Amino acid sequence: MKVVDLKSDTVTRPSLGMRQAIMQAEVGDDVFGEDPTVNRLQEMTADLFGKEAALFVPSGTMANQIAIKAHTRPGDEVICHSDAHCFNYEGGGAGFLSGVQLHPLPGPGGLITAEQITHAIRPFDHHYPQTSLVCLENTHNRAGGSLFPMEEMERIYALCQEHHLAVHLDGARIMNAHIASGVPLKDYGRCVDSISICLSKGLGAPVGSLVVGSKEFIDRAHRYRKVFGGGMRQVGILAAAGIYALENNVQRLEDDHRRAQRLANALNDLEPFSVDMEMTQTNIVIANVKKPLDALQIAEQLKNENILAIPFSQTRIRFVTHLDIDDRDVDYAIDVLNRLYQK
Ligand SMILES: Cc1ncc(COP(=O)(O)O)c(C=O)c1O
Repeated sequence: MKVVDLKSDTVTRPSLGMRQAIMQAEVGDDVFGEDPTVNRLQEMTADLFGKEAALFVPSGTMANQIAIKAHTRPGDEVICHSDAHCFNYEGGGAGFLSGVQLHPLPGPGGLITAEQITHAIRPFDHHYPQTSLVCLENTHNRAGGSLFPMEEMERIYALCQEHHLAVHLDGARIMNAHIASGVPLKDYGRCVDSISICLSKGLGAPVGSLVVGSKEFIDRAHRYRKVFGGGMRQVGILAAAGIYALENNVQRLEDDHRRAQRLANALNDLEPFSVDMEMTQTNIVIANVKKPLDALQIAEQLKNENILAIPFSQTRIRFVTHLDIDDRDVDYAIDVLNRLYQK
């Protein structure tokens, strides 16, 4: 019996076409800059976002941490959302690797506004840390895959330029944002200084992320990739998977979004659950669980039916649609949910 794995979009396995691309990849030593497939992926990604350069790195966490390191100095402060991935799920990396402190701001749907940032920027005074960077996230994982509105990103970028702050976008799922919102990738590129992009989430590659930015920024990022142990050798075999993902798996994200909507609607029709449909804009569904049931118990009950989901807390459970989930899997999940939880 197939396991319907809705834990995360990181669980996808490389398709046959992707494996063929991996097999045929031309490779070289990328630490010497001699891997033609990596170079192609980097140029292609920088071009997509209208940026000068890109760097291939092993993970989304490394992409974010390299960006934080390259934009800051020890003792600086970085503004982000209190639900941001870089604040919650990167092992305290910003303090550990860059010696900076994070200044988390609250806000519905993973959003922070230019107005909030204006108040959070530290005045020049030797008592305070110096604010040097703002990190945004689009789509927003903990907020349920929600979109960051373009107008607010533009306002934030204008504000940050005025205050000489850099803006980094955690775009682990920026392709989901692009497909759901219709915003051209170059528009994202022009209102931030750097973006991290994951190939191994909804795009279906086994490994890999990129960070994009100006040539000068990427030169610094390159040095930190080495320092963090992220220099890889004949890694064109992975870059080939990334190129395949960008060429074949972006437009199809709309299928994942459509399936997530079906799942969210079905959950919302069941008494024990409620889903914020306004926040459910892409491939992530976060259901609130009403007492006496709790999310851990529900995850266990679903697991017994070969459906996997992640409890975010006792009252929230996350389902993610992706490349390896088709309509029949969603039908099955909805049938099981109805059987278990319909009164
Ligand atoms: C928004 C966001 N940023 C960054 C990452 C980190 O990616 P990785 O698991 O490749 O380190 C994730 C992973 O789920 C994520 O959801």
